[in-house]
Amino acid sequence: MKILLLSSSYNSLTQLAHAWLKSSRYDVTVATATTAETMRDAVRQFQPDLILSPMLAQVIPRDIWEYITCIIIHPGIMGDRGPNSLDWAILNEEKEWGVIAVQAEEHVDSGPVWASYHFPMREGSKSSLYRDEVAQAAMQSMMVAVHRFETGLFVPAPLDYSRPEIHGRYRPSVKPEQRKIDWQNDGVADIIKKIRSADGQPGVLDDIGGESVYLHGAHEEGTLIGIPGDIIAKRHGAICRAAVDGAVWISHLRPKGRVADGFIKLPATDVLGDLVDEVSEIPVPLHYSTPTKTFRDIWYEERNDVGYVNFRFYNGAMGTGHCQRLTEAVMYARSRPTRVIVLSGGRDFFSNGIHLNLIEAAADPAEESWRNINAMDDLVLAVLTATDHCTIAALYGSAGAGGVMLALAADRVFAREGIVLNPHYKGMGGLYGSEYWTYSLPKRVGDVLALQLTEQCQPVSVEHAKAIGLIDDIIIQDGGCPSNFSSFQGQIVRIAEKQAHAHNFATLLEQKRQAWQTDEKTKPLDQYRLEELEEMNQNFWGEDPAYHLARSAFVRKLPRPGNLQCTANLKQA
Ligand code: COA
Repeated sequence: MKILLLSSSYNSLTQLAHAWLKSSRYDVTVATATTAETMRDAVRQFQPDLILSPMLAQVIPRDIWEYITCIIIHPGIMGDRGPNSLDWAILNEEKEWGVIAVQAEEHVDSGPVWASYHFPMREGSKSSLYRDEVAQAAMQSMMVAVHRFETGLFVPAPLDYSRPEIHGRYRPSVKPEQRKIDWQNDGVADIIKKIRSADGQPGVLDDIGGESVYLHGAHEEGTLIGIPGDIIAKRHGAICRAAVDGAVWISHLRPKGRVADGFIKLPATDVLGDLVDEVSEIPVPLHYSTPTKTFRDIWYEERNDVGYVNFRFYNGAMGTGHCQRLTEAVMYARSRPTRVIVLSGGRDFFSNGIHLNLIEAAADPAEESWRNINAMDDLVLAVLTATDHCTIAALYGSAGAGGVMLALAADRVFAREGIVLNPHYKGMGGLYGSEYWTYSLPKRVGDVLALQLTEQCQPVSVEHAKAIGLIDDIIIQDGGCPSNFSSFQGQIVRIAEKQAHAHNFATLLEQKRQAWQTDEKTKPLDQYRLEELEEMNQNFWGEDPAYHLARSAFVRKLPRPGNLQCTANLKQA
């Protein structure tokens, strides 16, 4: 059966759908279509039996859906319609939400329903829910819909609002005033809910010291208090603003203005500059013992001979400072009398490599790119050379570019079922990449596959990643539940503790040391780094500005110029 994945962009959900359909051996092609005409072109070219749309900002024209079944994956419960489903689910504090696979018809999202999948709502941002629960529910309902379509026997039920089980309804767009924050009256829970309902996009518009900014990355503070509206603390780029009944940390801001014109999301203190010069930086201990509500992006925990280096970077982007602090945390973990170190990445992303927004905003982006990649290399080196410990990378969230290579620095790599890995750099204007990938990637998958992965720039499902040796194992969720961070963590703890207490632990460690010494004799890590950085030097300061143009377009959410090396408009699996 020929399936066309019609999507507005090749975003995470489309990549996931692509990977799932490919591993089910369907003949699948992806078309990123932004107009009715490009949709028609894709259909003419590919002649699909079925069209699936995991993420579509445009309406599919009648002359397509009348002749070919088009199933739209909509992030809402049965009967829900409208452009801001998840925003409303968060604002209305829904206890349960879902995804439906709905057939395209005259009225958007009101066609017959092929499949639906529910999940319990969690307190998280819209983008976090989208990348986790929604993504998993979307894949479940998509696959059920595909199988039902394939039988040729299933007839989807029309949407009938008189049925008692239909709880959804049409909801218009959320108006900015519906989530505007009143710092003199709104409580912490309401403020966080409003910010999360609009995070990652479009953000909640607010005024800070006369600056109009969109708020992103909200975290509850458990101890600090102050005059409502005042900024009472800062920490690692985030600001803490007092409310009537507590305080809220805001990690990122975006100045009002068009993203395309360079008004991009940055750590809050970078946007506010001297407005927060006088605000005290309130530190938080790295070694975490008492659970208090606050903002922390790196923390260390220790249990039963295992050290956990936890990191949660907004969008998985790691600037120079993030990398330096994380290196310190890894070095601290290495200094502890434990046996195993777990690198435990974020819920939304494990890591997406160097921080392209911070680089773009720097006075000298080439210089900042260099500082950032060197800081990232230092971090990876700290993991690669941890020869007194066994190391584990635990990927609950997806990873891209240098973020994948960071994971590969660990001895063992475990990834959650349903995430996507993008182990390549070239899509970013032909970026060569560093993070010792020329050492660790071929070591895992061999030279031929390493070349394929880095040249073809395709997303890799965890199933494929395991099959080719890129990762060691997949952590499958319990009982078919769409996703569950604590069950994933529980499994990682069991794996780490089992390794720490293995009867042959000393032998394993000795083998690791010997292998490392042999590798160093064959070709020292310094040499890999030097060679990679020579290429990166060309990317940053050479005659071809492709990387700078691609980065600039990426952070401005514009089509990347000359992105032909990696992403054709139509991707044949
Ligand atoms: N630096 C800064 N921001 C980044 C980032 C990076 N390295 N990688 C992703 N982001 C941001 C995006 O701008 C987006 O921001 P938003 O919240 O303002 O919308 C958010 O993270 C999600 O990214 P998006 O591209 O929408 O997610 P996706 O799941 O569809 O795609 C990737 C994931 C990793 C394939 C894609 O984000 C990517 O190519 N990132 C760049 C990776 C890279 O080249 N890193 C540098 C070399 S090491």
